[in-house]
Amino acid sequence: MKVVKDLGFKFIEYSNKEELNSEDIRLVDLAIDAQKTSYSPYSKFKVGAALLLENGEIIQGSNQENGAYPSGLCAERVAIFYAGAKFPGIPIKTIVITASFNNQLTIDPIPPCGACRQVMIESRNIGKKPIKVIMVGSQKIYEVEDVALLLPFNFSNVNDAVK
Ligand code: THU
Repeated sequence: MKVVKDLGFKFIEYSNKEELNSEDIRLVDLAIDAQKTSYSPYSKFKVGAALLLENGEIIQGSNQENGAYPSGLCAERVAIFYAGAKFPGIPIKTIVITASFNNQLTIDPIPPCGACRQVMIESRNIGKKPIKVIMVGSQKIYEVEDVALLLPFNFSNVNDAVK
């Protein structure tokens, strides 16, 4: 039987950071602060991320580029993999993403790239808890309650159908 399905989802748009709760405001500040450690001589696009873990730890990350371009890594994955290395198995509660060009915060929020979404979703599935994603621009902020919403039909190497 042919069925049309709808994967639409709701997200929140804020007009400024002060509308967030105090925990998230702090994460936004730390994500912006993380841009200072960006190594981005090629793109000159400084991305900063901050993660809040379930144990209260906060991990910052920034994009790290390389002259052999594909060898670089996005800010989000730098932070997520570092969190995994330092606090294995501790779920991530919130991820905040910010970016600047010419030392100006981007006007629009910067959504994570597809590869980062895939990595975030695997962290989410290991932690068995939704991960809130906050994308920050100077004119507006987007909040998505669960990263899984950002990548429908994501790949999973756990295939229940084969059991
Ligand atoms: N970048 C990130 O850090 N996160 C993303 O989600 C997308 C892009 C970085 C990669 C590269 O260093 C720079 O932004 C320009 O693409």
